[in-house]
Amino acid sequence: MSGHVAVVGATGAVGQEFIRVLAQRKFPYSKITFLASSRSAGKPIEFAGQTHTVQELTEESFKGVDIALFSAGASISRKFAPIAVKAGTVVVDNSSAFRMDPEVPLVVPEVNPDDAFKHKGIIANPNCSTIIAVVAVWPLYKLCRIERMVVSTYQAASGAGYQAMVELEEQAREVLAGRKPTPKVLPHQIAFNLFSHNSKISENGYNEEEMKMVKETRKMFHDDNMQITATCVRVPILRAHSESINLTFSKPVTEQQVREALAAAPGVKIVDDRVNNHFPMPLESSDQDDVFVGRIRQDISQPDGRGIDMFVSGDQLRKGAALNTVQIAELISR
Ligand code: A2P
Repeated sequence: MSGHVAVVGATGAVGQEFIRVLAQRKFPYSKITFLASSRSAGKPIEFAGQTHTVQELTEESFKGVDIALFSAGASISRKFAPIAVKAGTVVVDNSSAFRMDPEVPLVVPEVNPDDAFKHKGIIANPNCSTIIAVVAVWPLYKLCRIERMVVSTYQAASGAGYQAMVELEEQAREVLAGRKPTPKVLPHQIAFNLFSHNSKISENGYNEEEMKMVKETRKMFHDDNMQITATCVRVPILRAHSESINLTFSKPVTEQQVREALAAAPGVKIVDDRVNNHFPMPLESSDQDDVFVGRIRQDISQPDGRGIDMFVSGDQLRKGAALNTVQIAELISR
């Protein structure tokens, strides 16, 4: 199916990545429309060798649009995705607005592609940290059921949008010039610092990002009994998220089995050079499609052989957002 494609939030960090990914993957389209706020209307956007003009997102924007990729925040999705669906558009939404809606499939193509076809107009793209974890964890779950996952994240500024990336660079310059930066986009100084993820803390003491990882992983794995706990941290990195992941399987699993499963898994690149101490790093996973996986080892605190530790790094804007969204669009357009 090639049709009229719309990109909502085209000027944002993820929106800009949509544009690169669509062009690189030669996504089929007959017409493409770039939408953002009135602030950006009229700005030029280069796409596949042509200059397009950003249009203001309005209730009329979806007439004749076959597929729309949304990344302009949850409130924009909540308002405009139903309007798009009414106009006959299939929405692939990168926001958190519909992810836990039982009527809306939540999809990572390497994990649960079949769910995408159950959509009623909207398909949700998972949270970025969740995507990066499940690409590496699902092949192992298929090997042997995972009873428990403990994850700690090291999340880049890009997850908080383009302005947060700019803020990291500006703050770094200010600190090096001997000035104390004033945080504007993120709640605390990000340069030369790190802090607990800047999402709301729930009553149980977990922040929203952590609870997204718990709930979204269970939804995609179709396993409400999988025990998951997460600690999410923002670090002074521009665009790739890294995660420490500890797994407890239902039966003993060897390191060798894990390596073989990961070597055969789509979207995974093993970077695990113990001799040279070279493991997944955000600088190397940035701009890459694959999730890098390394530090693969038997967890010595679980002497029954049911524990595995690993460390992953994946581009938040790419597999964590734009690439996964475009892959979902490709899946349903086949
Ligand atoms: P704009 O650049 O015109 O503000 P990011 O997450 O990187 O901050 O990007 C957010 C994206 O969502 C941008 O493309 C932004 O457009 C878009 N956006 C924000 N508010 C609106 C709105 N009210 N209507 C349409 N697009 C919006």
